[in-house]
Amino acid sequence: MFKRISALVLAGLTAMSMTACGSGGGGAGGGGDSITMGFSQVGAESGWRTANTKSVQDSAKTAGITLKFSDAQQKQENQIKALRSYIQQKVDVIAFSPVVESGWDTVLKEAKDAKIPVILTDRAVDSKDTSLYKTFLGSDFVEEGKKAGQWLVNEYKDNKDPVNIVELQGTTGSAPANDRKSGFQEVIGADPKFKIIASQTGDFTRAKGKEVMEAFLKSNPDIDVLYAHNDDMGLGAIEAIEGAGKVPGKDIKIITVDAVKDGMQALADGKINYIVECSPLLGPQLMDLAKKVVKGEQVPARVVTEETTFTQEQAKQVLSSRQY
Ligand code: AHR
Repeated sequence: MFKRISALVLAGLTAMSMTACGSGGGGAGGGGDSITMGFSQVGAESGWRTANTKSVQDSAKTAGITLKFSDAQQKQENQIKALRSYIQQKVDVIAFSPVVESGWDTVLKEAKDAKIPVILTDRAVDSKDTSLYKTFLGSDFVEEGKKAGQWLVNEYKDNKDPVNIVELQGTTGSAPANDRKSGFQEVIGADPKFKIIASQTGDFTRAKGKEVMEAFLKSNPDIDVLYAHNDDMGLGAIEAIEGAGKVPGKDIKIITVDAVKDGMQALADGKINYIVECSPLLGPQLMDLAKKVVKGEQVPARVVTEETTFTQEQAKQVLSSRQY
């Protein structure tokens, strides 16, 4: 009799512990139906970021994943605090878009020790130890920079004169700023007529893009091309160019990255000349990957987002159906 009661109690305890594991907050997850994800977002610096946040939040709802969301306001220290709080809360999976590439090893090791899988989304880290995260989902930013450079090379293929370029970089130390710069440089560097005469960060924001472009225009009378690492900085720069009495898209040719609606509108209006797409719609793939890593399934170490480019004519055609 005692043996039977013990067996029943044991079975009951086992069932209870399995439910707790699968109901979120179970540390290593355990593959139950309900998953809790801690997500640390970079901030709200651009139209791209707003669309990315919406994609993550909507997709979590659709996938039935409980999302704990925090906005780091472009500060690494806030992201580290958020990650530590998710570890403490024993979420099933952590996802984050690292504001800068360096300085993540310690907190990622803490997550690994707590057996909480981590997914990098949108931006990479430079950690040598790739076992600190399960996968990295996002764009190939070097490729984006190369596409921007390739357009420029084609545009000026019959031109022998120097081409003076100013560059608005994204957030200093961030993967998209580093990679978009190096990819672009790699392509244009093959021809010495292309000269980057000024390059400075505009923090991926419209306001800073305008401010820095105003300074560029004051100290450089002969700017032929602006390469902005995102649409928002390009849109801010357009205001500065118009304010200086020049015509954006004609007096100064403009290449940007992202292809958010406002950028595409400026492209269709002839104020931007070329946009390299960077898709913010990472939510659905992120939720699929999260379900897999929580179950302990293998996932690819790198998932690259598919993207395209837009000329002014192409922008006119797709503008009305643009989702973000
Ligand atoms: O990491 C992606 C970049 O971050 C986008 O290109 C930019 O607009 C955003 O702020």
